[in-house]
Amino acid sequence: MERLSKIGLVGLALMLALAACSKSSNSGTSSTTSSEATAAASAQASAAASPEASASAAAQVAQNGAAAADGGKVYQTNCSSCHQATGEGLVGSFPPLAGNPVVTGDATNVIHILKYGLNGKIQVAGHTYNGMMPAWGQSLSNADIAAVITYIRSSWGNKASAVTEADVAGVTQ
Ligand code: HEC
Repeated sequence: MERLSKIGLVGLALMLALAACSKSSNSGTSSTTSSEATAAASAQASAAASPEASASAAAQVAQNGAAAADGGKVYQTNCSSCHQATGEGLVGSFPPLAGNPVVTGDATNVIHILKYGLNGKIQVAGHTYNGMMPAWGQSLSNADIAAVITYIRSSWGNKASAVTEADVAGVTQ
């Protein structure tokens, strides 16, 4: 057992030494072939591009996260009593928002539903609903409506674009 781990250590040391050697000999040589040079250049270019890309992706997530956080509150307060905290709704009474193509579809349509309400027969996930969805345009601000729509479009596995306050203001009856 002790012998084995010794061999392992020696092996590790050898590998490290070899790695260090090959590194220093690499950087020492000035005669790189042109294909090596291009590969190095493109590696450098992608290394330079990726921090920017990941920074903007992080900013995007932060932005969406902030909107989703406010939207989550608006949802819990105003929507979850019917559509449930899980977005699953109640079969036959309140349609699910999770996995609902209307929710992740045309944003203008979703804004219209929220602002002006919805009634009449609809078909969601194989079930018929013929209820009444109250209009929220009077009781919620455009910012709250934007936040809650962004929330329902990006929760429970839903993946659709965010909606802004200006988008909400732009939709009229
Ligand atoms: C009082 C219960 C109730 C509340 C509260 C409520 N809804 Fe609804 N919602 C409904 C009903 C019922 C329907 C279906 C209307 C119909 O059958 O035509 C509906 C439909 C919808 C639809 C359209 C679904 C589709 O497939 O067409 C969306 C989107 C929606 N609601 C979002 C919300 C959001 C967001 C809130 C919170 C701001 C909310 N609802 C609050 C009852 C409610």
